[in-house]
Amino acid sequence: MRTLIQGGTVVTAEGSYPADVLVDGETIASVGRNLAAAVGGGSVPDKTIDASGKYVIPAGIDVHTHMELPFGGTFAKDTFETGTRAAAWGGTTTIIDFAVQSRGKSLREGLDAWHVKAEGNCAIDYGFHVIMSDVNDATLAEMDDLVADGVTTFKLFTAYPGVFFSDDGAIFRAMQQTGKNGGLIMMHAENGLAIDVIAADTVAAGTTDPIGHGLARYSVLEGEATNRVIRLAQAAKVPVYIVHLSAREALNAVRMARDEGLPAFAETCPQYLFLSLDDLGHGFEGAKFVCSPPLRSAEHPPELWKGLVKDDLQVVSTDHCPFDFHGQKDLGKGDFRKVPNGLPGVEDRMDLLHDGGVVAGHITKERWVAVTSTAPAKLFGMYPRKGAVAVGSDADLVVYDPTRRRTISASTHHMDVDYSCYEGRTVQGASDVVMSRGSVVVRDGEFTGRRGHGQFLRRAVADYARMA
Ligand code: URP
Ligand code: ZN
Ligand code: ZN
Repeated sequence: MRTLIQGGTVVTAEGSYPADVLVDGETIASVGRNLAAAVGGGSVPDKTIDASGKYVIPAGIDVHTHMELPFGGTFAKDTFETGTRAAAWGGTTTIIDFAVQSRGKSLREGLDAWHVKAEGNCAIDYGFHVIMSDVNDATLAEMDDLVADGVTTFKLFTAYPGVFFSDDGAIFRAMQQTGKNGGLIMMHAENGLAIDVIAADTVAAGTTDPIGHGLARYSVLEGEATNRVIRLAQAAKVPVYIVHLSAREALNAVRMARDEGLPAFAETCPQYLFLSLDDLGHGFEGAKFVCSPPLRSAEHPPELWKGLVKDDLQVVSTDHCPFDFHGQKDLGKGDFRKVPNGLPGVEDRMDLLHDGGVVAGHITKERWVAVTSTAPAKLFGMYPRKGAVAVGSDADLVVYDPTRRRTISASTHHMDVDYSCYEGRTVQGASDVVMSRGSVVVRDGEFTGRRGHGQFLRRAVADYARMA
C-alpha cells in the first residue's frame, strides 16, 4: 500500500519546506518535490492525500501518560484502549506510559502487569517506563535486564511519602546503576516530606478545599528538590530528566546545571503553561485541577515559555492521568489531600501548544514539532524511527491544518473523563489526517484506526550527544 501526501509544507524540528511525502507500507519511502511525477509511469500510489495549505509533521509523541494508574484510592479512568484512541484524535501516535513496581514485588512483575493492560488494546504505538518503588540489590540488577529489553527509563519520586517516595540514597543508587546500563532516571522533584507537614498545617488551619493543595506545595520546594536530584545525578555522573516541571525555581535549577554543561533535561506540561493557581479556587470545583506539582501563580508560565525557547526545557508532555470529577475527584471532599492527583490532557496537547505557543508567538512551528515529537524521540531512544519526516522513518505523520479552529469541550472530547480543564477554550490548529505506521487512524474527525494496531516499542538508550 503506497500513499502520497501531496502539496503540503513539511515542518520538522530543523526547518520547513514544501514537499510531498510518499509512504510505502509502514514507513516513509520518499520526501521531495513533485513526487507524483517521480512515482508515475505505471506505479501510481494506491491513495493520495491532498495536503495543500496544511503542514505535514511528525506525529506527536507523549512520553508521560498514566493509563489505568492505580492512584489516590482509585484508577486513572482512561484505559489503554480509550486513552490511545483519544491520543490519536489529537495527533499523537506514540505514548510512553508508566508501569508501576508495587512494593515488595519485582520490576518485571510490574512491567508484565502493564503489558497485560496494553497488549492488543492500543490504537497507537506505546512504550513503558518503570516506576521504581523499591531500590535494592535485586531491583537494581533487574534494571539492566529491562534496559536490554527496551525499557530504558525509570521514574523515582522525592514526593508522595508512603506511596512512591524514595530517599536520596535510593535515588543515588538507581542513578549509579544507569551509569552502568545506559538507562535514564526521570525524577518527580518536589520535597514531599516538607509538603506533607505544610499540607497538614493547612488543613488544621481550616483550609480543606482544593486551593489548599496549591498553597501547600510551595514552588521553592520544587526548586529545592530539582536542584537536589540534579546534584545527585552530577555526583553519580549520569544524566537526569525532570518530569512535569512547573515552577520558576525548578527551571532555574535546570538552567544553572545546563549552563555548567551538565546533562540535565526537563519537560513541562500544557497545564503549567495555560492554567494557574486561580483554577484551584471556586470551592470544590478546583478539584478538577488538582495535580502535582500544582498549578502555579501567573509569574511562572512566562518563565516556562522562555525555558522552551532557550532549550532549558526540551519536551512538553501531558502527564495524562484523568479522574472523573463525579465519583473520583470527590474522594477529596473535605480534605484536599485525598483528591486523586492528575489531569486529563493526552488529546489536547498538540493543539494547545500550536494555538497557545505558535499562534500566540511564543515558539516557532519548528520548535512546536521539536518539543512535542522530535526531542522526545531523541531523549527516549526512538529517533529516527519516530519524531522525523525522513526516508526510512515510521510513517507516523499528521496533516495539520494550522487555521482550523475548534472549541475544546468534555462534550466532544474522546478521553474517558467527565470534564475538560480547557472547557470552552477555542484553539487554532487541528489534525486533519493522522497516520500511524502508514495506516490512517483519524481522518476529518473520524476514528479509522483499530484497537490492537498499536505495537510495543522496544526503545534504545538515548543518544545524549545528539541533544547537546
Ligand atoms: O498529579 C499527577 N502528576 N499525577 C500523576 C502521577 C505523577 O506524579 O506523575
Ligand atoms: Zn510525578
Ligand atoms: Zn505523571
